[in-house]
Amino acid sequence: MDNFIAGLPKLELHLHIEGSLEPELMFALGQRNGVALPWPDVASVRAAYEFDCLQSFLDLYYLGASVLITEQDFFDLTWAYLERCAADKVVHVEIFFDPQTHTARGVPFATVLGGIERALQTGEKAFGISWRLIMSFLRHLSEEDAFATLAQATPFLSRIHGIGLDSGERGNPPSKFARVFARCRELGLPVVAHAGEEGPADYIWQAIRELEVRRIDHGVRCVDDPDLLRYLADTRLPLTVCPLSNTRLKVFDKMAHHNVLALLEQGLCVTINSDDPAYFGGYINANFHALAHELGASMNQLCRLSLNAVEASWLSLADKARLTREIRSYAACYGVSLH
Ligand code: ADE
Ligand code: ZN
Repeated sequence: MDNFIAGLPKLELHLHIEGSLEPELMFALGQRNGVALPWPDVASVRAAYEFDCLQSFLDLYYLGASVLITEQDFFDLTWAYLERCAADKVVHVEIFFDPQTHTARGVPFATVLGGIERALQTGEKAFGISWRLIMSFLRHLSEEDAFATLAQATPFLSRIHGIGLDSGERGNPPSKFARVFARCRELGLPVVAHAGEEGPADYIWQAIRELEVRRIDHGVRCVDDPDLLRYLADTRLPLTVCPLSNTRLKVFDKMAHHNVLALLEQGLCVTINSDDPAYFGGYINANFHALAHELGASMNQLCRLSLNAVEASWLSLADKARLTREIRSYAACYGVSLH
């Protein structure tokens, strides 16, 4: 099974680049930039990664991101992630960045985008990993702040492929961002939103009806609403699910209770992703391992999860067809039959 997972072509559609900052790089960048961290060493940082909810994680995540200052820092961060992708046989990524986390500290938008994009371009040449970039608004801030960020992003919009919504979900419903998302859609940008991670199924409906999202990030609370489950199965509106993240943030108390395979079997277009791998104990293959070993996922199910990610991606139809063939022929090598 582990060899099968290692070689299975995979796509990652829900990854916060700031969440791939490993403690070693956090320390190195802190020293390089003279940014003090509240921990004496790398081991103490890792020891601090005990979370009881989303907010307890976000507090550390924003603190960790404070070491990112120069274009080279954003390059190094993204490059380290892409090296992990290459090792995990990830062939396509659609990643989030949170400009407000950096511009609020005086780091220019162009610095953030430039470093991330240069690494993605270099990774495409070196590893053949294709990519899209999603600018995410922080939902604990105001809609006015999101509009100001969109204005700052205006000169760069041809280099951004979509818009997202993340950060603390409770008390910050999708409807709070209805106007700014409408503007993004007018600009021709596809939109996605985190919804139904800690928040209720109604936030998923809001993201669908008021933001007109192309995908839901997380969305696991859809199980609380049978009409929503039926809608998601009928429309195949994708959910980018993050199993290790969900157990680390206590959305599910243990992996054996995760609902992703049940959703898969009900016909939803669920995909597997790592969210913030440096904080949650693993990259995409670690998530696939957890499904196989702790939830009993079969090779057939893992292949279907990967095929769902192809369907849910923003790749061209030609690229989708090519990757679908690649995954199907890989499955056939293991005797896995897919209909
Ligand atoms: N930002 C980074 N990771 C996140 C998550 N899991 N939920 C909401 N916002 C986030
Ligand atoms: Zn996320």
